[in-house]
Amino acid sequence: MQNYLSIQDIVSLPAWVAEARTLKKEPQRYHTLGKGKTLGLLFFNNSLRTRLSTQKAAMNLGMEVMVMNFGNEGWTLEFEDGTVMDQGAAEHVQEAARVVSQYCDIIGIRAFASLKDREKDEAEQVLQGFRKYATVPLLNLESSLSHPLQALADAITLEEHKTTPHPKVVLSWAPHPRALPHAVANSFVEMMRLQQADFVITHPKGYELDPRVTRGIPIEYEQEKALAGADFVYVKNWSSYTDYGKVLTQDPAWMLTAGKLGHARFMHCLPVRRNVVVADTVLNSPQSLVIEQANNRTYAAQLVLKKLLEQ
Ligand code: CP
Repeated sequence: MQNYLSIQDIVSLPAWVAEARTLKKEPQRYHTLGKGKTLGLLFFNNSLRTRLSTQKAAMNLGMEVMVMNFGNEGWTLEFEDGTVMDQGAAEHVQEAARVVSQYCDIIGIRAFASLKDREKDEAEQVLQGFRKYATVPLLNLESSLSHPLQALADAITLEEHKTTPHPKVVLSWAPHPRALPHAVANSFVEMMRLQQADFVITHPKGYELDPRVTRGIPIEYEQEKALAGADFVYVKNWSSYTDYGKVLTQDPAWMLTAGKLGHARFMHCLPVRRNVVVADTVLNSPQSLVIEQANNRTYAAQLVLKKLLEQ
C-alpha cells in the first residue's frame, strides 16, 4: 500500500480489523517502529477526533508529529496548473507538496468538499494535488469524497459488538441545519460492501448518495421499515447529491429516538448535534457506541501508519 486514500486501499478488511484489535490490546508493541520518522498533518478543515487520534496513533509508534492548520496558519494554496497567480493564492501545491515531503515521512491531509461545485469536489483537488507532487506516502484524514480512517474504525467497532455473524446494519440519514458532505456515508457504504451483513440505507427522497457508491445496495425510503430488526443503526446527515450540496429538508421526524432504535446499537462518527440528529436518550444509553467508535479511531490510524511505515 503506497497511500491510504480510500477503502479500496484496504487489502483485506477482516485481516486489518483483526490486526487493529491486536494493536488495541498492546498499543506500545511497535513503539520503536516510527523512531526518527515524522508525520505531518495538514488540516484545511476543523477536527477533534481525527487530529488527536492520529497524533496518538503516531506517538504509539514512536513517530514525531507536526500539525498545520491551513485555515488560519498556512499560505492560501493554488491547485490549478498553469494559473496566473495574481489573486488570493500565495503558493502553488507543486512547491508546497514537495517542500512538506522534505520535512515529513508521511503526510496526512484533511480537505472537505466545498459542496458548491460537484465536478471540482469529485476531482479531489487538494488530495490529488498533494498526491501528484508529494514524494512521501499520503493518509486521507477526510477528503471531499471519503473518510476511510473513520470507516476502518467503524469496522473495528462493528466486529467488537456484533452478536451474530450476519448482523442487520442500517445507515440512516438524519436532519441537520447545515449542508454536510457525503464522505463519511460514502466510506461507510464502501466498507459495508466488504462485510458479511444485511445492509440497508434509508433517507428521504432526494438524498440519494452517488449512485456509483450505492449501486446494488437496498434503499428504503420509509425509515421505520428500514430499522425493523436492526442490530446496528449508523446515523449520519448528508446534503443532497443530485441537487448538489443543498439542504432539502430538516424534517425532525427523521431524528433517531430510543423508540426507533429498539434493541439495536447506535453508531455515529461524531461530532453530533443532540436532539437534532439523535435524541439525548439514545446518546446517553448503553446502546450508544459513539465513544468506542472514537476510541477505535486511534487503532485504525495506528494500523494504517504501521503499514505505511513497514512498506
Ligand atoms: N469523526 C471525525 O472525523 O471527527 P473530527 O471531525 O472531529 O475529526
